[in-house]
Amino acid sequence: MPGPFGRVAAPPPHFPVGGPVPAADLVGREAYIRRAVERLSDGSHLLVAGPRRIGKTSIILEVLRRLRRKGALTAYVDCLGATDLRGLGERLADALLENVSGTERTLAQAKAVAAGMRPTVRVKYEHVELALELARETNAQRFFDAALDLPRTLAARGGKRVVVVFDEFQAAGRLGPRVFDVMRTHLQAQRGVAYAFLGSEEGIMEQLFSEKGRAFYRFAVPLDLADAGGHRFGIAPDDWLDYIRGKFAERRIAVDESVVDRLIDATGGHPQDTMQLCAALYYLMRDSGQRTVTAELLAVAYEQAMRELERPFALHWSEIGRQKYLQAIAKRVAERAVLYASEGEVPRPEVLRALEALRARGLVTRLGRGKYDFVEPMFAEYVRRMSGGEAAIVPQH
Ligand SMILES: Nc1ncnc2c1ncn2[C@@H]1O[C@H](COP(=O)(O)OP(=O)(O)OP(=O)(O)O)[C@@H](O)[C@H]1O
Ligand SMILES: [Mg+2]
Repeated sequence: MPGPFGRVAAPPPHFPVGGPVPAADLVGREAYIRRAVERLSDGSHLLVAGPRRIGKTSIILEVLRRLRRKGALTAYVDCLGATDLRGLGERLADALLENVSGTERTLAQAKAVAAGMRPTVRVKYEHVELALELARETNAQRFFDAALDLPRTLAARGGKRVVVVFDEFQAAGRLGPRVFDVMRTHLQAQRGVAYAFLGSEEGIMEQLFSEKGRAFYRFAVPLDLADAGGHRFGIAPDDWLDYIRGKFAERRIAVDESVVDRLIDATGGHPQDTMQLCAALYYLMRDSGQRTVTAELLAVAYEQAMRELERPFALHWSEIGRQKYLQAIAKRVAERAVLYASEGEVPRPEVLRALEALRARGLVTRLGRGKYDFVEPMFAEYVRRMSGGEAAIVPQH
């Protein structure tokens, strides 16, 4: 709501954390973004599956911005936000229609028009025409079907490429039986439309797109994000170095290369963990009025970042708590303890199964025979600090 001074956008935080970041703060993803733009421009469908908080949404939003500049019509749909099939269809329809109507909630406008009311904002009839048909549809399944056909209609009408993104795509499966089959039926062979599917529950996404007989088998090309270019999380350390030093320099704070190296070591270069630590460090520097980052200040900021990351980490922890032995084995990995204790309470096949499950979730990686490590060093540290499996961080002495 506009305040007494009108609507003024708050300045973005110096190191944005949580949620999509602006292009200027999107570190090390240029090559990936270009490839994605190319593929989608060519009409290929993309699969972007990867661990949590590595920048999937930020990347795809920038991809859409660039595609729009090239004249494409774009739609971004977050499947997590929909609570039923009709809701998902409405999100898709509104996102698509915004391209032609210029307003966010075209469907609501169309409903008003259909009910004989005058629209609250000036909308041209041709802009609501497509929406009117949809707005009159009362059957949820038919509404969903019609929404899924809208991209094709738009592409055929305007002669422009249409690009649709489904974020957290795996969540759509919870909206009803056979949702994926229905979607596949409508989405295939739509001329002039390219789709990108994003998801974080890697296991589910992999099944859906790579197992024979699954609804989206071979429907989309996977563009690997987690180790693009052979870098951890797909981001070159030099890109982090340039960004971090430049960002601190903007605020007249000096941070030398060795300190940045330590910082990246501590986070493993995980995108959100790294940004969280940078943000904590920046506020620490600002509040204490210091001008040069030291290893000691970095250590203080690290503790602050750990506290701020407790929520996502607790979420991972409770998620793996739903499957037997995962937390126990995760602890062994975090502590670099013997994985297969000779007379341990966890039988060897169960240990292997647990390790595989942790790997499939993108939490641990296999280094070699019987050697595993956490993908995210700060999460490993969180796990080490857990006391007896309770969701609380206890300080280490
Ligand atoms: N390339 C990057 N450069 C800088 N920060 C990044 C980058 N990628 C991700 N981040 C950080 O991670 C946070 C989360 O990014 P984003 O929401 O795009 O990730 P995501 O993979 O979609 O996450 P989720 O799994 O929660 O959907 C951002 O707010 C930012 O702090
Ligand atoms: Mg996301």
